[in-house]
Amino acid sequence: MASVIRPAVETWHSTGNYACLIPPSCPRARGDLVNARTREPTAGVMRPQPRPPDMDWIYGLPWRDRLDLQARETAPREARRRLMDDLEKWSLSQFGVSATLVVSEIVTNAVAATSALSVAGEPLPVRLWLLGGPAAVALLAWDASAEPPVRRCAADTDESGRGLAIIEELSALWGYYYPAQADGKVTWAIIDRP
Ligand SMILES: Nc1ncnc2c1ncn2[C@@H]1O[C@H](COP(=O)(O)OP(=O)(O)O)[C@@H](O)[C@H]1O
Ligand SMILES: [Mg+2]
Repeated sequence: MASVIRPAVETWHSTGNYACLIPPSCPRARGDLVNARTREPTAGVMRPQPRPPDMDWIYGLPWRDRLDLQARETAPREARRRLMDDLEKWSLSQFGVSATLVVSEIVTNAVAATSALSVAGEPLPVRLWLLGGPAAVALLAWDASAEPPVRRCAADTDESGRGLAIIEELSALWGYYYPAQADGKVTWAIIDRP
């Protein structure tokens, strides 16, 4: 692990005041996720492969917000509140129920992954981008961990292991990618239904 973690940053288009994520470099395939000979995904079918969203489409979303959260247990609540406020401002409250559930799960996972890292120095943030347009909401969360999200088969009696299943159910698309020029990864979801 790098001794200094480089968070994903925004770049600014010279022609406007749009903030956007640095372009993804994807896939930075981990050895255990692809067959070394064929480069095909391995049979670990529950493992999503790293993939970015369609960044041209993301950059086309007219409403954007960004927030840095401290990686602690209050972060999911802060993310939900900010998202609800944004959706109201953007007249997109119809996506509120699904989008706040998804952001909760994404941020909860990002906080857990960050807490599992022991890095000296400044506490690591979880960085969240919230974007919206008339047809959909996009959520992207950077965390410092390079570990991928892994879908689990939660048994009836399990108290955890359902977050990604919830994200999958409520999102039109979701995934994660390793951003260029940054450490960690970005987990993302696009919600196009109330
Ligand atoms: N942002 C993340 N960073 C690293 N690992 C993650 C992340 N999100 C999910 N995971 C991995 O995927 C697993 C399944 O996540 P989830 O379905 O939300 O269940 P739970 O969080 O209850 O374990 C987690 O246990 C973790 O190993
Ligand atoms: Mg979880």
